Order: sequence, then C-alpha cells, then structure tokens
Amino acid sequence: MNQDFSSRRVVITGGAGGIGETLARRLLALGAMVVLADCDRAALLRVASALNGEVGLCECDISSDQDCSRLIQSAETYFQAPIDVFVANAGIPFAGPLQRASVDDITRVIAVNVIGSILSARAAIGSLANGVDPCLVFMGSLQSVTGRAERSVYTASKHAIAGLVKSLALELGPQGIRVNAVAPTVLDTPFLHQAYERAGIPVEQGLAQAAQGLPLRRIPTLEDVAATILFLSSPATRSMTGQIVMVDCGATAGKM
Ligand SMILES: NC(=O)c1ccc[n+]([C@@H]2O[C@H](COP(=O)([O-])OP(=O)(O)OC[C@H]3O[C@@H](n4cnc5c(N)ncnc54)[C@H](O)[C@@H]3O)[C@@H](O)[C@H]2O)c1
Repeated sequence: MNQDFSSRRVVITGGAGGIGETLARRLLALGAMVVLADCDRAALLRVASALNGEVGLCECDISSDQDCSRLIQSAETYFQAPIDVFVANAGIPFAGPLQRASVDDITRVIAVNVIGSILSARAAIGSLANGVDPCLVFMGSLQSVTGRAERSVYTASKHAIAGLVKSLALELGPQGIRVNAVAPTVLDTPFLHQAYERAGIPVEQGLAQAAQGLPLRRIPTLEDVAATILFLSSPATRSMTGQIVMVDCGATAGKM
C-alpha cells in the first residue's frame, strides 16, 4: 500500500509494547511524527533508543485523567500542532476463571482497558478536532465480538471498546473525526506470554495451538496489525467510521 504519512502527527498509547513499537517503526518510515505514551518508563526508553530517538515520549498511566491531559499537552508541544491520529492501544490481559479473579485483578483490567481507553480518547478529542483527517483508532480484540472461556473480564473490557467505537463514531462524525477499532486475534507479544504464563500454558504450545485453530493456520503478525491501523488512519478509509476491523486470520468467519 502506498501511503503518505509525511504530514501525520500520531500518538500511540501502550507505545512501548509489541504493537506500539511495530506501529511506530512503520509510521516513522512513512515520515510521520510520533509520540509514544506508556506507563513503563524503562520500556519507553528502550523503544525510543531502538527507534534512534526519533519519537516523543510521555510516561503516563492512561487510567489517570490528569495523566491523559498531560499526554495531550505534551504531544501538542512536541508536534507544535494538533494531533491527527490517536491510537488508544494500551491494554492489559487477564486470563483465568472468574471465580479465581481477585477484586484487584478485575478492577485493574477495567481501569486500564475501559476507563483508560475512554479517558485518553476523551482527552484527545479537542486536539483531534483541529487535526487533519482526524482519526481515533481503538485497540479491540477478537474478544470485542466473541466470548471466550476463562477470559470473561478481558472480554467484557474489549466488548466495551466495540460500544465506544460505534457511539463515538456517531458523536464525532459531524466534527469530521473518524472512529474505528482494530480487533486482532492472538499475537506473539509479551502481552500474550503473560496471559499464557498466568494460565499455566507453555508459550510455544499456546502459540502453536492458536495457529492450528485458525482457518489460515497461522496467527497475525504485529506488522499485519500495524498495517491495518495505518489503513484506518489513511485517506483510503475516509468514508469508514464506526467499524471493528477484524485481524483474525478468519476466526470470526464461522465454524470450519
Ligand atoms: N497480544 C495479543 O495477543 C493481543 C491480541 C488482541 C488485542 N491485543 C491488544 O493490543 C493492545 C496492545 O497489546 P500488545 O500486544 O502490544 O501488548 P504489550 O504488553 O506488548 O503492550 C502493552 C503496553 O501497554 C502499556 N500499558 C499497560 N497499562 C498501561 C497504562 N495504564 N497506561 C499506559 N500504558 C499502559 C504496557 O506498559 C505495554 O507497554 C492491548 O490493548 C491488547 O488488549 C493484544
């Protein structure tokens, strides 16, 4: 796909994670300006160094409204302009039977995946309204549209993203802000490793089983997810809003 992102100003939450770093690398190669936001300072510094320092950084916790406001201010300062694309990507996993989930586990998943996505998007709207072809892209999941045993809290949090996308697309459409989500199935990132480890599943075994269960017999790559976010942030999709775009190797197409 031939894309020109040379005048795009992009903020990525969870920017120090697997998807965030891959997306930032692609965006920089296309000439975009990028700010990475993450609560993990060490990871942010590592990723910034891997990207030759060509990104703005903001250490913040998206479940804090104050931090979200600070993120938008620091991004506008870095860009010297409003934000064009806000990628609400930060999220945390939780696997295991609901009965064994502690109140702290449940509260944290909802605080980051739901409240954090809402607060960060809310903070970004004013800046996006002044941006060029402004786009809000949320990070959903296969669990935005399907259920899964022993993923109830995570599933609830990702179904919330689908609701947010649809309602915000209606609310922000008149301001020209497009709102979509990317919804991947399992990806080989620390996020998934953590989920497998908590569930007591060896990582290699979990990944192989996941691939075998998909029609394409493989799992998507981080590049596949980044390419879909780029697509949704590009003029090619200027008439697309309110969509949950599956990157699932056929998982939701039906039963095989
Ligand atoms: N990896 C998968 O299998 C998979 C599949 C579908 C969807 N997703 C979604 O993709 C998104 C990114 O996940 P990833 O796979 O890159 O995982 P990752 O763990 O590599 O990255 C997530 C990043 O978010 C950051 N983060 C966590 N809580 C935060 C907070 N409160 N404030 C700011 N930053 C915070 C972490 O420090 C980390 O750098 C998540 O929303 C996740 O739900 C992942």
